[in-house]
Amino acid sequence: MKHLKYLVVSMIVIAIAFLSQSFKAMPPDPELKNIKAFPKTMTYRQVDHEMDVFKVALGVKCNYCHVQTPPGTPRDLASDANPKKEIARAMIRMTRDMNEKYMSTIAHADTATIQAITCNTCHRGAAKPANADIVLKEH
Ligand code: HEC
Ligand code: HEC
Repeated sequence: MKHLKYLVVSMIVIAIAFLSQSFKAMPPDPELKNIKAFPKTMTYRQVDHEMDVFKVALGVKCNYCHVQTPPGTPRDLASDANPKKEIARAMIRMTRDMNEKYMSTIAHADTATIQAITCNTCHRGAAKPANADIVLKEH
């Protein structure tokens, strides 16, 4: 029994040692070149993760907002040539304002924390959220 305990503990220690090694081995974050709406403190990996969230919330691919480069050439994710990118920046600011200025002032009754507004609150998998008028006409 005691033996087993030692074995488990030493396996955990080894696992932690391995994990911290592999984190050290991770390449450094690439530099961000053109960030205007996200906080300046965000790392490349955090921005990249947020991009996957956008993709799912709007049901689009990266080039819906990012300029399409010719096949075989590298992507230019810092470019502002695609006008949808500036719309998305306005959406980032709007969503942040809604949470910071309005949601944060609401006293919440039924849950412990206030539900934050995200892109998906409105978009729900569509680039243009369903318009209430259109929805009403369908019924
Ligand atoms: C809904 C629009 C939208 C989609 C879809 C999107 N992006 Fe972005 N992306 C943006 C905006 C807006 C910025 C700039 C944010 C800012 O200015 O703070 C950005 C910035 C970036 C940057 C930082 C570039 C730099 O150096 O400044 C990377 C990298 C990036 N996107 C990758 C991706 C990838 C990969 C995908 C697909 C998985 C993707 N994006 C999908 C809107 C989008
Ligand atoms: C409060 C609701 C709401 C939230 C939250 C919201 N959007 Fe939007 N978004 C809209 C509406 C409504 C439109 C359509 C505007 C129009 O008529 O062109 C839109 C349009 C867009 C478009 C342009 C689509 C097109 O094809 O022209 C992009 C890109 C976009 N939103 C990205 C985002 C991203 C990214 C987030 C999260 C950071 C976000 N939105 C959060 C309501 C919202």
